[in-house]
Amino acid sequence: MPLPSQWPLLIGLIIGLAAMLAGMASAILPVDGWELAARWTARVGFPLFLLVYLASSLVRLWPGGWRRTVLRDRRFWGLGFAACHTVHLFALAVFLKLGDETRPIAALIPGALAYALLYAMAATSTDAAMRKLGRNWKRLHSLGIHYLWLIFTLAYAVRILDVETRVEGVIGTALALAALGLRIAARRKVAA
Ligand code: HEM
Repeated sequence: MPLPSQWPLLIGLIIGLAAMLAGMASAILPVDGWELAARWTARVGFPLFLLVYLASSLVRLWPGGWRRTVLRDRRFWGLGFAACHTVHLFALAVFLKLGDETRPIAALIPGALAYALLYAMAATSTDAAMRKLGRNWKRLHSLGIHYLWLIFTLAYAVRILDVETRVEGVIGTALALAALGLRIAARRKVAA
């Protein structure tokens, strides 16, 4: 029996919560546990994001198979990513509250804007919203997905500078750039 289209939403929520609980259980001090929870919730959300970012490009490059199913259910993969990243928001909020490190408001603005776009996309992920917004729907979702890509790429790129986080920084940045490369290749294939 085929799985219902909505299942990626549940998957996103479950892996986000599992990453949060794993982080909390892996440290002695609560503040360290919440930091790990913030780190790991972002990490498990990244593959979900890449799937949404690449869904249409994968079908253009290699039509058929599982890629078509992912594209059909892309809306729910997007909502799954939003659910998972909401757990990241919760974990980082608790971490920032417990930690003694203060962050200037300006440093939080790029991330806050990413969340504003993410929730605007989630709130307009229905057919009715698509019809109502017309061309603005495409503009919003295109801006949102590229901005989220940028924040992920920058978050991993800055980790390359620190020797302790270099490995995840290199892997995350390489995956983000490879994903961009696939989108460009898919666009060229259509234009050719
Ligand atoms: C104001 C909003 C945000 C704040 C304050 C924030 C804070 C944090 C914190 C505290 C961590 C754990 C740091 C560590 O590794 O010790 C983290 C990790 C991370 N966050 Fe966020 N975050 C925000 C929004 C976002 C957004 C919108 C994205 C992506 C679109 C993102 C992507 C990441 C990534 C990629 C990691 C590292 C995961 C890894 O190590 O694999 N964050 N963030």
